[in-house]
Amino acid sequence: EECCATNVLLQGVRVLITAGPTREAIDPVRFLTNRSSGKMGYAVAQAAAKMGAEVILVSGHVALDCPPGVQRVITESAADMLKATCEYARQSHLFIATAAVADYTPVAVADRKIKKNADTLHLEMKRTVDILATIKQEYPNLFTVGFAAETHDLMAYARSKLERKGIDMIAANSVADGKAFDQPTNALEVVWQDGHYSLPEMDKHQLAEALMKLVAAQYNQRNT
Ligand code: CTP
Ligand code: CA
Repeated sequence: EECCATNVLLQGVRVLITAGPTREAIDPVRFLTNRSSGKMGYAVAQAAAKMGAEVILVSGHVALDCPPGVQRVITESAADMLKATCEYARQSHLFIATAAVADYTPVAVADRKIKKNADTLHLEMKRTVDILATIKQEYPNLFTVGFAAETHDLMAYARSKLERKGIDMIAANSVADGKAFDQPTNALEVVWQDGHYSLPEMDKHQLAEALMKLVAAQYNQRNT
């Protein structure tokens, strides 16, 4: 196939993206969350829109404006994010999971504010549903890209997540030593079944554009 201008690589493609952190309620005034700023996911959404895609961004609470030309849905907990994502998955062609989804959520939400009494407080937690794995299971033909945040053994964990979740591509980033989370730059190891590509540290907007070119190439190869 001949090459074409970047701004039409995803023309007419409906792209669904999750981004940002989740909030798991403990009581009416408290929640558990993580350090995700949503920057990478929002940059991915913006890059996809610039490439001609119709983008739906299912986002946790972040301090970022919705990128131009992107439709945003704000969600709270992992369960809320799963529900919103499921609603849009059927009509999507490409799914990219960048969200930092809580792996555990409190077993019960206290209906009143928890008062301080004892010196220690125990919170019982249960596993959340894996949005990425669930969507891929429900829609095996949906071209699906995951992210992996790792402090060690990046490539090995990336490959095993790719296989375990049955997804098409994975972008792994190191989160050791305060890297990636809430930073303006990042680096990615992009891995798929029969290839991989290293994107060196750069601004998240540049990085997202480079990533989306790799994704579009694999997606278009699958769908032409
Ligand atoms: N993910 C998801 N739903 C979850 C947990 C993770 O959709 N409940 C997605 C993330 O958005 C990311 C990918 O799964 O695209 C990998 O997330 P990560 O936290 O790196 O891996 P986990 O599978 O949760 O495993 P672990 O945290 O133990 O490394
Ligand atoms: Ca996790």
